[in-house]
Amino acid sequence: MRILMVCLGNICRSPLAEGILRHKVEQAGLDWEVDSAGTNSYHTGEPPHKLSQKVARLNGIEICDQRARRFTAADMDRYDIIYALAGDVLDEVRRIAGKAFRPEKTRLLMDELYPGQQMDVPDPWYGEEPGYHEVYKMIDQVCEAIINNNRMTVGRP
Ligand code: 4NP
Repeated sequence: MRILMVCLGNICRSPLAEGILRHKVEQAGLDWEVDSAGTNSYHTGEPPHKLSQKVARLNGIEICDQRARRFTAADMDRYDIIYALAGDVLDEVRRIAGKAFRPEKTRLLMDELYPGQQMDVPDPWYGEEPGYHEVYKMIDQVCEAIINNNRMTVGRP
């Protein structure tokens, strides 16, 4: 299973989502690949935002080795599930993918916990540290749900 987390800049939200899900995948002993990307290239090559790094570290997760990259149409084929962290990101994923867009493997991340509610993970980029803690909490809860949903299917006939 290959999973891609996508936000706008790939420096605040999706690096946290990558780090959190990868950590839970390792703890659950699953053989999943987790990656992240952004729909813009403003921060390509940069490490995650200092506050994303800080909040991850406070929770025992190291994300400093990640580097931002832009989402490409080729990612549509390369990954099994593409999670957009917000609705505007999903619009951009659709636009960038063009003819390669695959709706059946693209979804809003928060839909895994609150299906159909069109819930965004808010962009903490313009705010202060508390926003990053809030984003961490949301992503942590939804990633826990993703792992638990998968655990329940393991071993079923
Ligand atoms: P992210 O936050 O999408 O969570 O990485 C952003 C970071 C930078 C910008 C926008 C959002 N930006 O426009 O530079």
